[in-house]
Amino acid sequence: GHENNSLAKSPMEESNLSANTVMDHPRAITDKIALIRDAGPSKFQVIADFDATLTRYRVNGLRGQTSHGLLQQGNAYYDAKRQALYDHYHPLEISPVIPVDEKTKLMEEWWSKTHELLIEGGLTYEAIKKSVADSSIAFREGVTELFEFLEKKEIPVLIFSAGLADVIEEVLRQNLHRTFKNVKIVSNRMVFNDDGQLVSFKGKLIHVLNKNEHALDMAAPLHDRLGVATGEEDEENANMKKRTNVLLMGDHLGDLGMSDGLNYETRISIGFLNDNIEKSLESYREAFDLVYLNDAPMWGALELVSQLFSTEA
Ligand code: TMP
Repeated sequence: GHENNSLAKSPMEESNLSANTVMDHPRAITDKIALIRDAGPSKFQVIADFDATLTRYRVNGLRGQTSHGLLQQGNAYYDAKRQALYDHYHPLEISPVIPVDEKTKLMEEWWSKTHELLIEGGLTYEAIKKSVADSSIAFREGVTELFEFLEKKEIPVLIFSAGLADVIEEVLRQNLHRTFKNVKIVSNRMVFNDDGQLVSFKGKLIHVLNKNEHALDMAAPLHDRLGVATGEEDEENANMKKRTNVLLMGDHLGDLGMSDGLNYETRISIGFLNDNIEKSLESYREAFDLVYLNDAPMWGALELVSQLFSTEA
């Protein structure tokens, strides 16, 4: 029938299932939904990767930019140097043959060198704003609605990225046209001097292979640009750790490690498979509860959290 009562359906049936959705164990998800719903919104949080998870993989037919990729220092020499690092290290990042400990060292090298170039080249906050304004980066459809729903339910969203926190904040500001007090960013955070020039990075470097370490220790409020740790923040982080039910969203298998900092009870995972679909589908559907293909919008995720915490439930 077409009765307009989504609660009567088994949770993931109908509207969520489309050519862009792959799900191996609908029963398991239904069970998890029941557990998470019973525990309530105060036990729940969302942990999401940024690039190609919240943002689109393709924008106007071309590969969308990442928080690193969009950055133009306003200094061609330094932009070229960072690009040269990308050309050297990115193939190593995606190489299937380099052992993980070796690759970790290489990624540390890459991120440190890039950060040094950003400092040396005198990156300003103004350049970040302009880069974001000029960038080809776009959120998946439905991200605003998802964040709004979660904000209403006072459910925190942790955006976890090996990119650049300050750039991600600016992308949120410019592309979602507002800030969300429930959204926190765990990423590489810049420290600017009074002239608005980058002088250092705060805390431990986060690269693609150590994202899972110290996850929740590093959460800093969206508005806290200088990243000064406060007692309040520690308390907030402790609260996050009590939210042991999780919706995790990522575009790489490694993103599943984003909840490692949390001794989670029930986790529903969504994987966005953007590239190499034929080769990777099998491993993605094994690893994630739900897999979305082809730059699918966030409506499935919104429907899921609505089912978890709809007012009628
Ligand atoms: P993530 O957003 O999925 O956590 O990963 C960050 C990506 O940023 C990673 O795939 C490599 C990329 N990157 C650049 O494009 N330029 C850089 O200078 C650095 C350090 C990383």
